[in-house]
Parts: sequence; C-alpha cells; structure tokens
Amino acid sequence: MIGFAVVGLGMGRARAKQIVETAGAELNMVVDLNPELAQKVGEEFGVPWTISLKEALGRAEVQVVMVMTPSGLHAKIGVEVARAGKHVITTKPMDVSTAACDQLIGACDEAGVKLAVDYQSRYVDNNYRVAEALRLGWLGQPILGEVRFKWFRSQDYFRHGTGWRGTWAMDGGGSLANQGSHLLDLLLWFMGDPVRVYAETAIMNHQIETEDLGMAILNFPSGAKGTILGTTTFPASQYFSAEVHGSGGGVLIDAVLEGRMRVFGEGLEEKLNNIANPLHSVIEDMVSALEKGTPLRVDGREGRRTVALLENLYASAKEGRAVACR
Ligand SMILES: NC(=O)c1ccc[n+]([C@@H]2O[C@H](COP(=O)([O-])OP(=O)(O)OC[C@H]3O[C@@H](n4cnc5c(N)ncnc54)[C@H](O)[C@@H]3O)[C@@H](O)[C@H]2O)c1
Repeated sequence: MIGFAVVGLGMGRARAKQIVETAGAELNMVVDLNPELAQKVGEEFGVPWTISLKEALGRAEVQVVMVMTPSGLHAKIGVEVARAGKHVITTKPMDVSTAACDQLIGACDEAGVKLAVDYQSRYVDNNYRVAEALRLGWLGQPILGEVRFKWFRSQDYFRHGTGWRGTWAMDGGGSLANQGSHLLDLLLWFMGDPVRVYAETAIMNHQIETEDLGMAILNFPSGAKGTILGTTTFPASQYFSAEVHGSGGGVLIDAVLEGRMRVFGEGLEEKLNNIANPLHSVIEDMVSALEKGTPLRVDGREGRRTVALLENLYASAKEGRAVACR
C-alpha cells in the first residue's frame, strides 16, 4: 500500500475520494488551511485531518502528497514536501511560471523523490490511443492539431475562496491557463512543442485580471499547424474537444475528459481500438512507479511544457505579434 495525503480540499476532495477508490493506494491524511473543511473531508473519508502541512509531512505512513492548492502555491508547497522526503503530485497546471516549475523539479531531483503532474485527460483510453497512433505514425504526416472549449464561469466562480482565480499570481492566467491547460497539454502530447506561436487574449465578460477568451495559432517543427480556442464566456459549458489529422487519417475527440471520439481513415478505428491503456489515473501511475519502477506519464519535465507554452502565448498576446518559442 502506498500512503497518500492531500493538501487543499476544493478539487482535492475529489482526489481524496479517488485515492480511497484506487487499489494499492491508501489515504492517510487530509490538509486544508480551513479547519472546518479539513474536518469535514477527514470525517467523510475516516482519516485524520489537519491545518498543518508539517504535521502531515511528519507522518511516516504518508509517502506521497498530492498538492491541490491554488496554482501559484504548487511549487512552494511541493518543494517543502520534497525536502521532507515525500513524493509529490501537483494538480494542473504545475505552477504559474516555468521558474517555479524549475524550482520544484530541482528540489525533487535533489531529494530523490518522484514528481507527477495530474493531467487527467492523459489517462483517458481514447486520448492515449490517439497519442500512441501519432507516435507510431499511423495518421501519416501531421497536418493540423486543434483544441477548443466553450465553457461558462460566473463572476461568483472568480469571487470564490480567497479570490485567487483569474489572477496572474495565483491562477497564472485565465481560461487558457486554468480550464484550458488540459487541452494545451493534450495538444503538446499529440503534436510536440511548437516553434512559433501567435496568440490573442481578451477580457470580454468578467471582472478579472486574466483572459476569459484566448485564441492562438501554433507552428510545429514538422510544418504542421495548430490552433487553440478557449473561453469561459459561453452561456453554458459545452464542448471541450481536441481534433487532429494527418495525411493518413483524422480523429475528432468531441469530449476530451470522457474521450468520446470519431475516427476517419481506412482501418484506423480498429487499429486504435486495439491499443490498451495500462493506467487510468495519476494515482495508479504513482503507485505503479513506486511499486514497479514504471515511468510516470506526466513527470515534472513533461508537466512544465504546458506552463512554457502558456508563457509563450501570453508573451505573444502582450507583444501583439507572433513569437519564437523560448
Ligand atoms: N484536474 C482538474 O480537473 C482540476 C479541477 C479544478 C481545479 N483544479 C486545480 O486544483 C487547484 C485548486 O483549485 P480549486 O478549484 O480546488 O480551488 P479551491 O479554492 O476551491 O480550493 C483550494 C483549497 O486549498 C486550500 N489552501 C490554500 N492554501 C493552502 C495551504 N497553504 N495549505 C493548505 N491548504 C491551502 C484552501 O483553503 C482551499 O480549500 C488549482 O490549481 C486548480 O487549477 C484541477
């Protein structure tokens, strides 16, 4: 059994539940600065709770800490976890800057602990099949990768808690960095890192610092193109999709988090369906990495790629021109 603690119990509550439900994983403690919330979640899952991360880090049975606090605190807390000799999982995005990601990667390397970033759509069967098919060249020469979502977020959503959402310091951006980071991660997984991007962002219908609408055009080293569109201004949360095609076939993933897809190309669907995905969550992934030494699907360096892309997109939007990716 691998022992876990969860820090930050908004979305972290759902992850605590997932730990309880995962074979080989055990939830040993939950942590939140808000004592009522920590107590409520602790009692719900029948585990000790605390407002002190140090207390969790002092427990020998806690081997992995899942960091589910506002994004701008992931690296700071992760570094503390790593220095205590515990393995780290951060939720997405890894943090709000590549500098912070690098600090966390360095601290985990130094402490000899594992670091994973929770991009849940990487564990969805069909998304994994598409990534494998692209890696194996089954779609031919890549032509276009496209990700887009139209969601609704109220002004109250941004007022929630300490008001961290929609801020540069704690959310690292707006619809692209927060809701969209799952899709940015998929696009990088499918297509690789772009060499040049052009982005526009805008605040259309919320009182926030960061964008509620973002759009971008990407150029990949292969010559393939990419597009991103993400907004939280639609009247309802509708599609969250990824589409990719090459000279030999195409896939439309209509719902990325569920992995609903349509496949186009001679015999491609059957070939895709024969690909087996061995892992279904970051928790299973970490348990397997610790027990069997398997590589993590999204380690720190892999998780950092989305943050680097965001920095390039925001630099382009700020400068009002296409930029070469750093
Ligand atoms: N994977 C997903 O689909 C998904 C979904 C939602 C949110 N997230 C990510 O989860 C993170 C949190 O988002 P949320 O919506 O749950 O936020 P939230 O504000 O609802 O919850 C964050 C919790 O962290 C606690 N907290 C803050 N600082 C802390 C500290 N230093 N120590 C202990 N607890 C602390 C707060 O009291 C709060 O309860 C963000 O990084 C977000 O991007 C991921």
